[in-house]
Amino acid sequence: MKTFDLTDIKPIFSADMIQARIKELADQLNNEYEEEVYVICVLKGSVMFAVDLIKHLKMPVKLEFIRLSSYGSGTVSSGQVKAIDITLPDLNGKNVIVIEDIIDTGYTAKFLSNFFNHNFKVKSYKFIALLDKNCKRQVDINPDMYGFEIDDKFLVGYGLDLDGLYRNLDYVGYIET
Ligand code: IMP
Ligand code: MG
Repeated sequence: MKTFDLTDIKPIFSADMIQARIKELADQLNNEYEEEVYVICVLKGSVMFAVDLIKHLKMPVKLEFIRLSSYGSGTVSSGQVKAIDITLPDLNGKNVIVIEDIIDTGYTAKFLSNFFNHNFKVKSYKFIALLDKNCKRQVDINPDMYGFEIDDKFLVGYGLDLDGLYRNLDYVGYIET
């Protein structure tokens, strides 16, 4: 694989832009929910977004983590979603908010919506992605809320990785692969 360094990353969404948008999303959620919610962070990519979002939430929040994988080490979605760890408490009758870093083909979002449908009778279900690569959708599914729409670029930073790297950046940029 080609090697990259930080100078290859072209910034798109600055840390300030991301944080401001997250605050808006949280305000919307605060208006919508008063009761307890289960926030489900889909590891590893969503960790930054989930952590920053929940800091602004005012309702009682329970945080859960699940781990899925779809990309392997490449830059195109394999279309095969693997559940690496999807251990969850009983979510029957609960408000569930699933947090994803990015929705691309939609296979992951579809997998999760099927999973929650089959396993629980939740009170409410919401799927939130920080980024929406709408033009790449292969499955008929959309996030209930998203931070930013983005065209077909390979993104890194703020949780998003290339072969495990760059998740720690506080901004999102793209790499010409
Ligand atoms: P989907 O199943 O194709 O919608 O892809 C969802 C997952 O693919 C996301 O949770 C990300 O982990 C990963 N992904 C999609 N696009 C990108 C990208 O541009 N950079 C890094 N990871 C991505
Ligand atoms: Mg992911």
